[in-house]
Amino acid sequence: MNKHARRIPPAKGKLGVLLPGMGAVASTFIAGVELVKKGLGKPVGSLTQLQTIRLGKRYENRAPLIKDFVPLASLDQLVFGGWDFFADDMWTAALKAAVLSPDQLAPVRKELASVKPMSAVYDPAYIKNIKAVAPKKGRSKLDLAEQVMADIAAFKKKNGCDRVVMLWCGSTEILPERAACHEDLEAFELGLKNSDPAIPPSMIYAYAALKSDVAYGNGAPNLSVDVPAMIELAERTGTPIMGKDFKTGQTLMKTTVAPMLKARMLALTGWYSTNILGNRDGEVLDDPGSFKTKEKSKLSVLDSILEPERYPDLYGNYHHKVRIDYYPPRGDAKEGWDNIDIRGWLDAPMQIKINFLCRDSILAAPIVLDLVLFLDLAQRAGLKGTQEWLSFYFKSPQCREDLKPEHDLFIQHLKLKNTLRLLMGEEVLDHSGLDYYDTDKGRPTPSAPPRPAARRNTPAKASR
Ligand SMILES: NC(=O)c1ccc[n+]([C@@H]2O[C@H](COP(=O)([O-])OP(=O)(O)OC[C@H]3O[C@@H](n4cnc5c(N)ncnc54)[C@H](O)[C@@H]3O)[C@@H](O)[C@H]2O)c1
Repeated sequence: MNKHARRIPPAKGKLGVLLPGMGAVASTFIAGVELVKKGLGKPVGSLTQLQTIRLGKRYENRAPLIKDFVPLASLDQLVFGGWDFFADDMWTAALKAAVLSPDQLAPVRKELASVKPMSAVYDPAYIKNIKAVAPKKGRSKLDLAEQVMADIAAFKKKNGCDRVVMLWCGSTEILPERAACHEDLEAFELGLKNSDPAIPPSMIYAYAALKSDVAYGNGAPNLSVDVPAMIELAERTGTPIMGKDFKTGQTLMKTTVAPMLKARMLALTGWYSTNILGNRDGEVLDDPGSFKTKEKSKLSVLDSILEPERYPDLYGNYHHKVRIDYYPPRGDAKEGWDNIDIRGWLDAPMQIKINFLCRDSILAAPIVLDLVLFLDLAQRAGLKGTQEWLSFYFKSPQCREDLKPEHDLFIQHLKLKNTLRLLMGEEVLDHSGLDYYDTDKGRPTPSAPPRPAARRNTPAKASR
């Protein structure tokens, strides 16, 4: 038994899923869950539903599904709710988002129509390209937070939920400058009372969640819970938090290809990324303020993976450009182009081109599902504060302020699975494979491990 192993209570009863922002991602997620429940679709892209986890040595052949290994809530236990400026129920929102076709959605019309957003917290200083319809009114930001807390409590009671998690699926906000009110909880609460302009709506929801013992995840690049005041609150209330910005299209590609360049010590001269997308998210990102928030999130990944400070010759001087263009005819069918200028042996130039024709919300929906289930697991496991093991799902993974975030998709994946192993009292996998070739350590199970193919006596050959 390792020191991180936990007795995790089972996922009994209903799990409320509250989503601030009920547009394309949220409606695609809810529709998908309802279709999967009816056996009318497959949860492709979801680790919690489809992936196995290897336990022990390779010859033990133990590889249960993740959902059979850790006690996760099942899809039948989920109840959906949330907030939006638009009063559209999820049936109307899904039709407008046009990610799934009306024919695909029809079998779950009743379930989708029953999910209606509550009125939202709105601040025009943080979002330019959307005009809110009937937002909440309050005397102060604290008053608004208390209204959200009351919404959470009412939702929980009405639906008989045992637990609730909140995941921000709302638009990208204009990034506030770090201010005194972000630095500790006392200053933050004073800021709420005084309606400090540096507190955006996403922080008001997050505060309300954490005060209500509700785990909070952030699917946008907003600051939200990535400030000391919120981390303090999450630790004090024993609540898990995580963000920022779902890792879907181009950044998913970037954090897959960049580790390969680094692993092979191939040099980078420049990386030009451009996207077109035509959904409401694209419209919001067409505002320079919101785009700046997104750009920051997208730009940070390469430096963190390539470590130019350690490899100045290879990565000290590359040019990185990211563009997003709002192009309505494409709707949710985003297209991303990457031109990557690299150098090999003796600095010889080469190029890689990636053209990813993806579906934004189709890639985001399984991430939402996994995060909901894993945040709930984290809370039952008694994990509080920042959940770095969920970095796998984020473009700008939140981590302790003095640490560098981990962006490499494969390290993130190992981090996630090893955390699950640790929590359940299993050995972590180091993948060195040395044990298989060590005759003293290589027989840990009753079923005889395969013997090394041949014993080599010459050390030089043996070490190859
Ligand atoms: N789709 C993806 O692949 C992807 C990837 C990474 C991040 N994201 C982020 O996820 C978020 C959702 O994306 P989407 O495509 O669903 O966008 P969307 O525009 O379809 O939906 C967002 C919704 O949030 C609502 N909203 C904005 N501010 C709100 C507030 N304060 N309270 C309540 N509702 C609010 C808007 O009215 C809108 O309906 C965006 O921030 C986007 O940048 C999406």
